[in-house]
Order: sequence, then structure tokens, then C-alpha cells
Amino acid sequence: MKTYNLCIVGGGSTYTLGFLKSFVRLRDEFPIKKLTLFDIDKERQEKIGKYGEILFQERFPQLEFMYTMDKREAYEGMDFVFMQMRAGGLKMRAEDEHIPFRMGLIGQETCGAGGMAYGLRSCADMIQAVHDIRTYAPNAWILNYSNPAAIVAEALRREFPDDQRILNICDQPENVVRSCSRLLGCDWKDLDPVYFGLNHYGWFTHMYDVHTGEDLLPQIRNRIAENGFLPQDAEQRDQSWLDTYGMVQTMMHDFPDYLPNTYNQYYLYPQYKAAHLNPHVTRADEVMAGREKRVFDECEQVIAEGKLGDRFHTISDAHAEMMIQVAESIAYNRNDRHIVIVENNGAIANMQNDAMVEVVCELGMHGPRPMRVGNIPQFYLGLLVNQVSCEKLLVDAYFENSYQKALQAFTLNRLIGDAKKAREVLDALMEANEGMWPKLQ
Ligand code: NAD
Ligand code: G6P
Ligand code: MN
Repeated sequence: MKTYNLCIVGGGSTYTLGFLKSFVRLRDEFPIKKLTLFDIDKERQEKIGKYGEILFQERFPQLEFMYTMDKREAYEGMDFVFMQMRAGGLKMRAEDEHIPFRMGLIGQETCGAGGMAYGLRSCADMIQAVHDIRTYAPNAWILNYSNPAAIVAEALRREFPDDQRILNICDQPENVVRSCSRLLGCDWKDLDPVYFGLNHYGWFTHMYDVHTGEDLLPQIRNRIAENGFLPQDAEQRDQSWLDTYGMVQTMMHDFPDYLPNTYNQYYLYPQYKAAHLNPHVTRADEVMAGREKRVFDECEQVIAEGKLGDRFHTISDAHAEMMIQVAESIAYNRNDRHIVIVENNGAIANMQNDAMVEVVCELGMHGPRPMRVGNIPQFYLGLLVNQVSCEKLLVDAYFENSYQKALQAFTLNRLIGDAKKAREVLDALMEANEGMWPKLQ
């Protein structure tokens, strides 16, 4: 079996421990030869790196493992690069969330004003990082899931139009499929979904039983109406995530056609969500006090003790498993189906060709082959055309340093929906992002 070299950009991420453990757990199906972590934050990455050394020494001693801040060392000879950077860090995520809340708007990592603020930071850092990777690893597959993935995908499409080996991915559609399997009491691999949308803004039109071909969506609809909806790993989730999955029941009550992505709650109920979220403790605050603390506490304990012991089984890793299985499908030309982000080109027939859309694709060594969904109904088309326009205008603002385009993007966004509010929140975010955004004029 051919083995591969792989680099993770954002080695100090809270998700890296899940990856390190998953590379051990999946070593028979995806044996990697060399794994490198790259980050710009020495201290943060070093803790994860030292943890990795102990883990692999115990359970995967053949693996060549290192962590570095040197680009050449990180990228040269790589077959796959996984990108999970957070431009500006969790501290700026907190700003993205708190500033809009002060104006009565939703502050959220990827949707609305906060998502656009993060988007302008990510465009700059992601474009630079992809240029660096291409300098040292011209043929590596780049799997990006750094957020906001919709905006990053559009920016990379424009900056690297001929690059066929950049793939943007999000785990949330697959998380929803896994959650359906919990609801139905089956294995999630027994479900064969049909899905369309933009990243963090899509719907499942069918959920077929892979063995019988029966569409299970009617059953799923009934069960959600009766019992609500839980994430597959509900026992490990914070209350805010349980509330988010709970909103699927409301969405399906109002719009019963399809099963929505959980993120649609922000687009469909912007005023209700703004009124019901806690403006003082946002998700960034929860993550810093929760996941981030747990991850770095675990690192410190393992480094102090010099062994992992039964900590191998902590930290859920559905996210890492999805990304690794996407890489496997490409590496071994398996043509497995995954929901990923691709240029539309007719996949959604009545949407513009150059939109970056999220649909089911077969994934092999030549990249994603999207599965077409035909024309989508007017309601969904209206929502998506509005949002794709918003995302494209924001990326225009980035490339053209245009305040006017940014104002248009903010005005179109359903979480803002008013030009005076748009200007107010844009100005406040521009000030908070001084030096991290392009200079908008
Ligand atoms: P985090 O802040 O804990 O980790 C991000 C790491 O990236 C930090 O160690 C930081 O120093 C590093 N970093 C920042 N800029 C960098 C750069 N230019 N080059 C290299 N490294 C850089 O954040 P997190 O919560 O662990 O999330 C990591 C990323 O993964 C975020 O973008 C998040 O939105 C994304 N994510 C996406 C999905 C998805 O489904 N698309 C799922 C989970 C996480
Ligand atoms: C899901 C989404 C990601 C997002 C993450 C946020 O996995 O698909 O895009 O980054 O949730 O989770 P958090 O726990 O950091 O709010
Ligand atoms: Mn996502």
C-alpha cells in the first residue's frame, strides 16, 4: 500500500489532538509515512507537538513526526496539506461575535457580520499560505477547512483559477448525516444523502437507505417533529450546540420540504436568534473556557507524565475522521461520496456557474465529481442567490480594497439586512481589525 506525507497547517489548533489520535486509529486504512505540523505560534504548537511525540512513540513509532515554523521544512515532499488555521486566533473570534451583539446583531463565527470580518482576515492569510505551499509542494493536495470556508473557497478560486488540487470542505453536512443515523438507529455509512447549498447554508432533499434505496427523509421528518434532533455526539456537546440542533425542529416545522443544515437557523431567524443568544458569553468564550482549555490541559498532563495511558480515548474525532477519509478517497482513487465545496458549473442548474456550492461529490485521484441536483425551488434559490452575492461582494472588497463593496456585502447579508446597521457594524469591525484586513477605501 502506498504511504503518504502529510502536513497540518495550524498545528496548534484545538482539533489537532483529534487528528493525531485518528492517524493512529486509521493507520491500516491510511498509513502515513511522515506527518509535519506547521504553525506561526511557537508556544501553542509546541505543546501539541510534544504530545504528538509521546503519542507516536507509544502507538506508531514508525511514523516520522515533527513540528516546525519553517515553511520549507513543513511543505517540501508533502502529498497532502490539511489547512486549519484561524486568522486572528480565538481572541479575534470573540471580537467578531461581541461587536455585532452590541448592535443587536448576531455575532457568529462564519455567518453574518462576524463571519465576514473573519473572512477578510482569512482571505489574506490563506492566500499567502497557499502560495507558500505551492512554492515547496506544487502537486500536494490541499484540503482546506479553515473558516469561513465559503468565503475562503471563493477567494482561492479567484487567486488560483487553474489549481485543480485545492479542495474546500466542511464537516457539518456529514455531522447532520451522522445525527440522522442516531435518530434512525443505523450506521451513518448506510445513509446516502442528496444535498445542495452553499457552505453553512444547505439542505438535504433526500436521505436514501444505501441498501434498499428507500428515501428515509419522511421518517426523519416525523421523528424530528416528535422528538427533536440531537447531534450524534450529544453527550460531548455544550448546551449551545444542543440548542442549535434543537432549532432543526423549528426549521422543519416552518419549511418541511427538506432537512436543513443547522447553520440555516441564523439566516432564517436572525431576529429571534439575536434576541435569544447570550450577548455576554458567546461561543468563542465557551470554546476558550471549554475545548481549548481541555486540549491544552491534556497536553500539559501528558507532557508532565511522559505517557498517554487511557487518554487515547478522550476527545471526539468525527471531524478528523471525515478529513482523513476524504484524503484516503483521493489517495486510493476510491470515488467515495462526500459533501464538499466545488465550483457550481451546473450542479445546481438554476444557479450561476461560478458560485462555490456544497453538494455530494465522488472523490478520486482526479478530484471531486459533483452530483447534479437540477433546478432548486424559488424559495431556496432566492435565499442562496442573496447569500452568494454577499460572499462574492465581500471577496471583491478584499481584492479591490473597496469599502463600497464591503458595505454592499454587509447590506445584503440576512443577519444584518439594513444599510445603516451595515455601515455601523462594518465601521466597528474595520477598526477592530486594523492591520488584519486589507485597507478598505
Ligand atoms: P485555534 O485558534 O485553536 O487553532 C488555529 C491555529 O492556527 C492556531 O494554533 C494558530 O496559531 C494557527 N494559525 C493562525 N494563523 C496561521 C497561519 N497564517 N499559518 C499557520 N497557522 C496559523 O482554532 P480552532 O478552533 O482549533 O479552529 C481551527 C480552524 O479550523 C478554524 O478556522 C475553524 O473555523 C476551522 N474548522 C473548520 C471546520 C469545518 O468543518 N470547516 C471544522 C472545525 C474547525
Ligand atoms: C462545525 C462547523 C465548523 C465550525 C465548527 C465550530 O464543525 O462545520 O465550520 O468551525 O462547527 O465549532 P465551535 O465548537 O468552535 O463553535
Ligand atoms: Mn463548517
